[in-house]
This record gives sequence, C-alpha cells and structure tokens, in this order.
Amino acid sequence: MHDVPYLHTTHVRSNFDVKEQIREYWSRRSETFDQSPAHGIHSKRELATWKRLIGDSAEGIGGGRVLELASGTGEFTRVLRALGCEVEGLDLSEAMIERASRKHGNDVRFYLGDAENAMLPDGRYDAVVCRHLVWTLLAPEDAFRDWLRVLKPGGHLVIIDGNWQHQALVAKVAARVAKIWDRISPRAVLYDAVAHRLIQDQLYFREGLLPDRLTGMLRDAGFTDGHTGPLQGVLASQLRAAGCGATVLAFCSRSAGPSS
Ligand SMILES: C[S@@+](CC[C@H](N)C(=O)[O-])C[C@H]1O[C@@H](n2cnc3c(N)ncnc32)[C@H](O)[C@@H]1O
Repeated sequence: MHDVPYLHTTHVRSNFDVKEQIREYWSRRSETFDQSPAHGIHSKRELATWKRLIGDSAEGIGGGRVLELASGTGEFTRVLRALGCEVEGLDLSEAMIERASRKHGNDVRFYLGDAENAMLPDGRYDAVVCRHLVWTLLAPEDAFRDWLRVLKPGGHLVIIDGNWQHQALVAKVAARVAKIWDRISPRAVLYDAVAHRLIQDQLYFREGLLPDRLTGMLRDAGFTDGHTGPLQGVLASQLRAAGCGATVLAFCSRSAGPSS
C-alpha cells in the first residue's frame, strides 16, 4: 500500500516554473515568429512608421545606447538600428537570441537573461525599449524599478504593448483571421493556444494591461512624464498585413534631477 494519497491527474500540479514555460513557449515559436504579421516587420513602410513613431516620441533616442528588453528574433532591433542606436538586446530564450544574432551579427550584443532582473550596470542606457514584453511579466513593479536603475538620468523608457484580453472588435477579427491563416498556411507559425492560455492565466496582467494602470505603476516606480497612446499608423500597416492590434504605447522618462 502506498502511504501517500493516490494522485488523480486532476490534482497533479506542475512544479515547472512559469518563467520556464514562457521560455519554452517562445523558444518553440522562434522558428516561425517573423512570419506573423504583428511580429515580423514586413514592409519598408511599416519599418518607416515604427521609426518615425519611436524617433518622434522618445526625444534624443537616435544615436543613443539602447537596451532592448525581450529582443526576440531581433525584428524590433531593426527599427532601433535604423534610428542609429547602439543596441544591446536581452531575451530569456536562447533560440530567440540565436535568430537575432544571425540577423545582426556583431553589430548588436545580445544577453541571455531575465528582463525582470536585468543585472546590467546602473545608469548605462539612454533608453530602455520593449515591445510585447510587459503583458507577460510576473512582477512588473520590481521590473520597472530595475529598468529605471539602468537608465541614465533623463533617459527614456518606451513600452509597446497591447491589452490583448480586451481587444477592439476589428482587432479581434483580424487576430482570429491571422490565427486561422497561421494554422492553414503552408508555413504554419507553431501557435500553441493551449500553452498560451496556461501561461496567460498565471501572469500579473492576466486580466488585461490597462494603459492607466500601467502609467500609474510606472509613476510609482519613479518614472516621470509618462503618457500612453495609440500606435498611429502601425495598426494600419499591420492590418494591411492581416495582423492584430489594440496596441498601447507608453513613453516615460527617468527624471533628469538628482535620483532619490
Ligand atoms: C512576443 S515576443 C516579442 C519579441 C520582440 N520584442 C518583438 O517585438 O519582436 C516575446 C519575447 O519576450 C521574451 N521574454 C518573455 N519574458 C521575458 C523575460 N522575463 N525576460 C526576457 N525576455 C522575455 C520571449 O523570450 C520572447 O522573445
């Protein structure tokens, strides 16, 4: 006889850390990540739109030293490099970093690491940029404080993300069409809806990433001049490429005054 209660499968809990699940998930998706319309930047027009948006909104970013968190396959790195930035990328997934390194060679240094605790030097960067990372954080308050720490005084934090749980109807329809296309396309993008849902249920922003809440959290972490707004022009480009939207953009600065 067993002296421990028999475990029914419904009672079995995984002790596999959620961050490991996130890493596995994105590593699997790395192979075909760039094929998704909202991930890969598929036209010169979209690249130019991103470039204008980031350049206009984060004053002085061009030519600066930028930390790109969750650099993925290095797609958004292209935007930052087109702005003349000296980019350092960081990502949790080795498979993602391999792809990004292939794209950017020795021009960009990539770190394998956790964006929630970057372990990079204080005051090193003119800007910290991340696209589609914040929705997946587990402890965003700690992460934001860490991002503030690595910024130079007066540096910018640029967050591009979406309230994926509460998309506008048009974005929902576009996302649904994109997912169906992903499944039937000869170049399927390895989207795993079950794994995605399992991860999402464990995230801090599992109820959705609301711009006002994000702005408040960034303020509490010590950022100033925060504002959020739509990604004008980008959504149109992505919709043209059958992508999805509901995207939020937040710009914040680290105060140029003495740090507390
Ligand atoms: C949706 S992809 C976005 C990739 C890239 N930012 C882009 O927009 O093309 C999410 C990326 O975040 C990375 N990621 C997720 N959580 C992370 C963490 N805590 N630290 C570093 N990278 C993380 C994943 O490995 C994956 O590459």
